[in-house]
Amino acid sequence: MKLFGKRRDILPDKEKFPRHIAIIMDGNGRWASKRGMPRKLGHSAGAERFREISEYCGEIGVEALSVFAFSTENWNRPADEVEGILNLLRKYLDESCEKLAAKNARLRFLGRLDALPEDIREKIARIDAISAKQTGIIVNVCINYGGRADIVDAVKRYAADCAAGKADPAALDEAAFSPYLYTGDLPDPDLLIRTGGEMRISNFLLWQSAYAELYFTDTLWPEFKPAELDKAIAWFASRKRRFGRAEEVKPAK
Ligand code: FPP
Repeated sequence: MKLFGKRRDILPDKEKFPRHIAIIMDGNGRWASKRGMPRKLGHSAGAERFREISEYCGEIGVEALSVFAFSTENWNRPADEVEGILNLLRKYLDESCEKLAAKNARLRFLGRLDALPEDIREKIARIDAISAKQTGIIVNVCINYGGRADIVDAVKRYAADCAAGKADPAALDEAAFSPYLYTGDLPDPDLLIRTGGEMRISNFLLWQSAYAELYFTDTLWPEFKPAELDKAIAWFASRKRRFGRAEEVKPAK
């Protein structure tokens, strides 16, 4: 607990926590521009904030965190900005090995990873090997990720299983399909947070967010400190979730 001290009073009891939090970390560029700095310094500040928030989620007992680090559309940004984000990822991957072992976190990288530079894929493979032995919070870093691409890739894997006789199309339903998504074995996100003031989900976890509670804040991502996450979790705890039914559905104990 060296970074964050005591658990904050605003946090609800554990059974009212979201099990899985998804975050669209928006506003890095504006945060930098407001300070007369180049956009890539906004992404550096954003990467630091991601580190802090993921560590904090592990400490307070969130089971899974998924963050949107780079979308299938972000390749269309200026080349130096794309390279800047990839370099931050390289740095993060290099520094994560030791930290992961100490914190027991399971780091996963979701998206079309084949399109990433080879050195990054090698670093990811090293982290995968460490994460496989851990048992703590699952942190999904979504990179070259798109919600539609996720669904298309799942359909391809499913079709391959059908062709191999391992899946039966006549038995296909939503529960049978979900495991083919990148998030396969995880519960759907309960809470989807977007920082930076926009109110859209921008192709993030489309299938998985069907019943997520959506939390939008004007706070720019580099300023989204643990106290801001506390507020989002407290808001989540006040929601009555009905999943299309007439009555509130209470979380399973
Ligand atoms: C959106 O802000 C943010 C991104 C496209 C990149 C997010 C990347 C990081 C937080 C850093 C890298 C992550 C890791 C895991 C090392 P924006 O640039 O669209 O901001 P703007 O809307 O203000 O322009």
